[in-house]
Amino acid sequence: MTLGTSTTQAYGEAWYWDNRYAQEAGPFDWYQKYPSLSPLLRLYVPSHHRVLVVGSGNSAFSEGMTDDGYGDVVNIDISSVVIEAMQKKYSNHPQLKYIKMDARDMSAFQTGSFDAVIDKGTLDSLLCGSNSQINAAKMLEEVGRVLKDKGVYILITYGAPISRLRLLRDSCSWTIKLHVIDKLMSEGGSGHQKWELTSPIPLDDGGSSVEAALGKNPDVHYIYVCIKENSLRPSLDHETAMD
Ligand SMILES: C[S@@+](CC[C@H](N)C(=O)[O-])C[C@H]1O[C@@H](n2cnc3c(N)ncnc32)[C@H](O)[C@@H]1O
Repeated sequence: MTLGTSTTQAYGEAWYWDNRYAQEAGPFDWYQKYPSLSPLLRLYVPSHHRVLVVGSGNSAFSEGMTDDGYGDVVNIDISSVVIEAMQKKYSNHPQLKYIKMDARDMSAFQTGSFDAVIDKGTLDSLLCGSNSQINAAKMLEEVGRVLKDKGVYILITYGAPISRLRLLRDSCSWTIKLHVIDKLMSEGGSGHQKWELTSPIPLDDGGSSVEAALGKNPDVHYIYVCIKENSLRPSLDHETAMD
């Protein structure tokens, strides 16, 4: 299944997802499943870290994380239908929490309360709907707020740098690394990867370095690893100068 095709305008709306999840048994994972992304996750997120999955849907990704040793995975989704189903399904999994919440307003979470935020297809959904730029900016601002300094936002998307970098850079002060994974990996492909998953791709402002590395329109999913810069710059230099 792909985003970005004809009937995607409602992807930012709770009613659309409620209807869809009422009909769909699941589990279903957009783009990629946990096992294909786990080497990257393990690179950036130690298993004792507190993780928030935004727009978790009925994906098995979070279960995969806890099977792999992650001990505190909080999931939110705008659809009450899917949240209720997941709460029931995982009632015996204390490492997994499911809460109905809009990623554009996560005021129930304290500022700086997560080490990592994972987004697989949710920013993409907001970008398909109406008021897309405003909604995406609100969500990214909230993601930046709930993360600790040096926390990571991992965005898994079909969006190439030309359509994502500016949005990301405008939302928060990040250090951004770009990784890619072949789309075929989502179908269990183990073939030759165009680019090693765990090696970041050189990233310049316009994204032309990515084209140089991968060619035009590569068949990949993009993974933006955004590391939140310190909100308060340390005053150490100043203090040292005064000593
Ligand atoms: C494309 S699906 C991805 C689901 C899951 N992350 C996966 O990888 O399979 C997008 C999900 O985002 C949720 N969603 C859409 N808008 C949202 C919002 N404003 N806040 C929280 N979740 C939202 C939808 O209900 C849906 O479950």
